[in-house]
This record gives sequence, C-alpha cells and structure tokens, in this order.
Amino acid sequence: MALFGRPRPAVLALTAAAALVASLLTGGGTSQAATTGPCDIYASGGTPCVAAHSTTRALYGAYNGSLYQVRRSSDNATLNIGLLSAGGYVNSAPQDSFCAGTYCVISVIYDQSGRGNHLTQAPPGGFSGPAAGGYDNLAPATMAPIMVGGHKAYGVFVSPGTGYRNNATNGIAKGDQPEGMYAIFDGTHYNAGCCFDYGNAETNSRDNGNGTMEAIYFGNIKAWGYGTGNGPWIMADLENGLFSGVNAGYNANDPSISHRFLTAIVKGEPNHWSIRGGNAQSGSLSTFYNGVRPNVAGYNPMKKEGAIILGIGGDNSVSAAGTFYEGVMTSGYPSDATENSVQANITAAGYATAARVGPANGSVVSLRATTACCTTRYISHSGATTLTSVVTSSSSATDKANATWIVRAGLANSACVSFESRNTSGSYLRHQNYQLYLHANDGSLLFANDATFCPTTGVNGQGISLQSYNFSNRDLRHYNNSLYIASYGGSNTFDATALWGDDSSWVVTSPWTP
Ligand code: AHR
Repeated sequence: MALFGRPRPAVLALTAAAALVASLLTGGGTSQAATTGPCDIYASGGTPCVAAHSTTRALYGAYNGSLYQVRRSSDNATLNIGLLSAGGYVNSAPQDSFCAGTYCVISVIYDQSGRGNHLTQAPPGGFSGPAAGGYDNLAPATMAPIMVGGHKAYGVFVSPGTGYRNNATNGIAKGDQPEGMYAIFDGTHYNAGCCFDYGNAETNSRDNGNGTMEAIYFGNIKAWGYGTGNGPWIMADLENGLFSGVNAGYNANDPSISHRFLTAIVKGEPNHWSIRGGNAQSGSLSTFYNGVRPNVAGYNPMKKEGAIILGIGGDNSVSAAGTFYEGVMTSGYPSDATENSVQANITAAGYATAARVGPANGSVVSLRATTACCTTRYISHSGATTLTSVVTSSSSATDKANATWIVRAGLANSACVSFESRNTSGSYLRHQNYQLYLHANDGSLLFANDATFCPTTGVNGQGISLQSYNFSNRDLRHYNNSLYIASYGGSNTFDATALWGDDSSWVVTSPWTP
C-alpha cells in the first residue's frame, strides 16, 4: 500500500507499523494519490475514526469528498474545497479563484468519517464569542498558507474569538468510553489564553464539571497544569483543568514543544490516559504521560459528553490562539503502535512552509492606497498618529520619511511582518482599540501581537492585505484617511462594507525615503 509521498523519492520503512502498512514512496516533483490515510491505519488497529477533519488532505485512502467550505464576503456565496484525487491532497486553486478580490472565511470543516461530525461556527455558551448572536468568529481562509506534498494548502488560523464546534455528534465517546485523538498544529502559533483545544467537550457549550470534556490542548497557559520550560505544552483539557500528567500543576515529563508542524495526541480510557507528541515533519512520537487519571477528584470515571470543539474551551472560552491542519477522533483507545504508524503517515505527507506573500524582511517600502479616491495616499505617521497622506516627489523630506517603513519579521511570529518607522527607529505600526498608532516597542507580548500583520494577496486583487495577527478577522484598512484594523461588516463605522476590499488593499512601492 502506498502512503502519501514526499516531493522527493524516498523509501519509508515502518517498523512498529509493519503489521499495518508497508510503504514504498516514489516519485519526483509533487505527490499523487495515496491508498492509505491515518483513518485506515486507525481502523486496522481496531480503533476507527469517528471524526476526521483536515483542510490539507484526505485522511482515508478512499475519501474523495470535500474537505472544507469557504464563504466569501462579496455575496455570501460558498464553495466546497475538495481534493486533487481520491485519498490525496487538497485542491486549493478553486479557493484562490473564488476568493480573489474578496474576503473568505472557512465556514465548515467537513467530517471525512461519514458520521456527519462537521465543524461549524461555534455558538455562545458559558462565554460568548465576538460575532453576531454571540457566535465565535470564523477563521480567515488564507491566513495560514502552507505546502503539503508539494501542493498549496491552507490551515485553520485561530486568533482569540475564533472557534468551531459540533454539539450534536454521532459516535463520539461519552461517559468513560475510550477514545483517542491526534491533531497537527502550528507549534509556533499559540498563546496563554484559554483554550486552544481539539477534541471532546460538553454538548451545551458550558462547564458541566470536572471530567465532562477530554480534548487536546496546545499553548502556554499556566493557570492549571504545565510542564518543563516556558511552554508551549501539549496537555489534556479535562474541564476545569489542563493536565500535563497525574498532578494538577507541574509534571516534569511534559516538555515545551514547538515544532513548526506538531503532532499532538491525547487518548483516554477508564482510569488510564496518555499524552504523546512529535514533529509532524520527521521522526517518531514521544510519550509525555501514560498512567492513571489525575489525582484530583472528578476525573475518574470521566463524564465525557461527546461534542467536538476546535480552537476554544469547553465552555466556549474564546481567548486562545493556534493553527490547525488536520485531526481525528477515534472510537476505542488506540495502541501506541497504531499511533506510531499514523505518525509515519503524517511525516510522509510532506508538510512544509510556504513562501510568504509581500515584501522581504529588511526591505524598505512605502504602502500606497488602492481606493480610487486615494491612490496618491500612503500609510504615514505624524508622531504617534497614523493616517494616509498624499506624498509626491515634491513632498518634504519629513513627509517622505513619515511614509516609509522597514519590513521586519513579525514581532509575534516570524511568518508574518511588522513595520518599523523609517525615521523613528524602534517604533512600529500597532493597533490599539482597533486604531493604528506608531508606538515605541515596549517589549511586551501585547505590543508584539498588536504590531504583527500577516500579508495576503490584496483583497481587491492589488498588492497585499495585512491581517491582524491577534484579531485575524480584521485587516489594516483606511477610512476617512485614518487607519484601523477593520472587520468586514462589523459594528464600527470603519467596518463599513462599502469599499472594504479597496480600502484594505495596499500596493507595495519603492520607498519615499530609501
Ligand atoms: O479546563 C480548562 C477550561 O476550563 C475549559 O476549557 C473550560 O470549559 C473551562 O473554563
């Protein structure tokens, strides 16, 4: 049986997996279809998938349906995104065409297991989200571009306020029933908010007490459990507690782990559970906990309810950040050998970073508006105030320098960018209360987050758009010549839908002050 191929020839010997799969990987250039996916391996191990979510590839060799749905803001039309071939990789080109010149979100992540356990916009629960009706935000469709098997793909970028859920599932473990789950995350995108989770949660979106959820958590919150170093850690969210081992707080065997592509595993059965993890690009899994339920009342037996969450806590806590590429939940407690085979399949899939859109780090640029009113205006500052200013060759040296920016690796994440002022060294464009300012970098995490923008192809097809790293449903936009991070159709005047695409697209020009 062939596994997913890498973009280079390789022969993969699966040791522990030998009883399940033996694979020969061939081919140069891009990879083609596969006949074995992670869920085929789980099924062979007697622990079939009951939910299988991915925006990057099929998780069954025979799967040939849709992976996810995108919705665009221009007309609210939706498009299902499928595969290049049965059992293969995502075909993202239709998304790029469909979303060109507008803004798209990921509106549904389909369940490949056939059980209908799709993930959609999470409803309010113990906490409300920022979208209409207290729902959570949906992830921007283009904010987490990657390559997989040589093909362009997009992950699910969760900034605080974003969340997906299914409270009416089929086949997911309940009570103390055994289950397993893995997910592939971006190990460099996390925060200390509650709770970037994927897995089993309450069906009413509320905190129903200890043991009413069992999900993979990834991040560096220390309010409950934690491991060695400063994080991030893979932990189990069991409700009213993230557990890194048997103790409520510190457990020495759970390491900080931050592979760019991270395999994270949590599994549980009566009075027994495990945390495992590894690098989704190469190598094997390590076990960070394998033992009895926590030594805290309420977690044995478990009282799982069987909803599925992504990017949020069980009670719809919406303060977390992270990026998801694929994940499954199983019926039954998978063996380590089965998971080791799944890890071999994952590393063979060929996850890789994609080239970033926009100007290179270190380059000096000016950013010109594209709205018809304003094509002579550039992103500028006047002291701490930011604005769009008309700049011409006869402008003063100060005005030219005020409209010039040095592109830096994103202060919060080097996959994105920050803009340092050309003439006020150490000061950066940052948002505060949704307005843009030029402020000196105070070294705080908040400043880094507020000053980081992720470039995408311009929403109107021109230049680039700059999506806020920590408010990812908001783009850098001008409105009445002032600068904001705006959300399409949101409640502020500067969120107006009219001209939103033009106002949030910027042409990168040569700098007014080289
Ligand atoms: O267990 C940690 C968090 O506590 C859960 O995700 C949430 O439901 C509660 O606030």
